[in-house]
Amino acid sequence: MKQPVITIDGPAGAGKSTVSRTLAKRLNLVYLDTGAMYRAVALQATRENIPFSDGNALYMMCENIDIHFKANGDKSAIFIDNDDVSAQIRMAEMDMLSSSVSAVPEVRKAMTALQRKIGEKGGIVAEGRDMGTVVFPDADFKFFVTASPEVRAKRRYDERKARNEDIDINNVEADIRKRDEQDQSRKLAPLKPADDAILIDTSGMEIERVIEVILGHIKGDHL
Ligand code: DC
Repeated sequence: MKQPVITIDGPAGAGKSTVSRTLAKRLNLVYLDTGAMYRAVALQATRENIPFSDGNALYMMCENIDIHFKANGDKSAIFIDNDDVSAQIRMAEMDMLSSSVSAVPEVRKAMTALQRKIGEKGGIVAEGRDMGTVVFPDADFKFFVTASPEVRAKRRYDERKARNEDIDINNVEADIRKRDEQDQSRKLAPLKPADDAILIDTSGMEIERVIEVILGHIKGDHL
């Protein structure tokens, strides 16, 4: 039997990553963090000084580098060629830069192809913005995870504080709102739920509860 494809889309800070990673682990599936791929593209374009207005140059760059994941204990590390960029892609400036570069059609073309290749045999939990709408429209299970902007900002703030970053919660919330707006309003593959996605508002929920709800849908139907 073909292994399932499960998609988890939603805005920044909705809890997608923790939920997707945990779900993949419990179900013994591969976790695919597509946001990390756009972050890697933004990082490499910055390193190579490629302007985001030059779609062709960005496409060539994507074709010339090897973006891949490697399991690292419980986590998964992302590489550009032989370079582990897992830490660099989480730098705060990569938030907006990855959102901007992800609006470039040539970049989406390259990443969509790579994501489909990784998922072609099934057996994945794919997390992002357009997993259920564009990349895996025939996915077995689609979820769209949201939370209020205040709750999402608080989660991002706690994450960054834990990494000892010097930040202000109001700035975090303003950045999140700006990035959502940019991700929702782009022409290609905008952030939105697929028509057949199950919506989950995680505002007042513990992560464990979100996982229970998702597993409830999957088990009830399939596994
Ligand atoms: O999930 P994240 O915050 O790491 O994603 C960074 C940016 O990448 C996000 O603001 C928009 C873009 N992205 C996308 O356009 N499509 C995806 N499937 C995943 C991320």
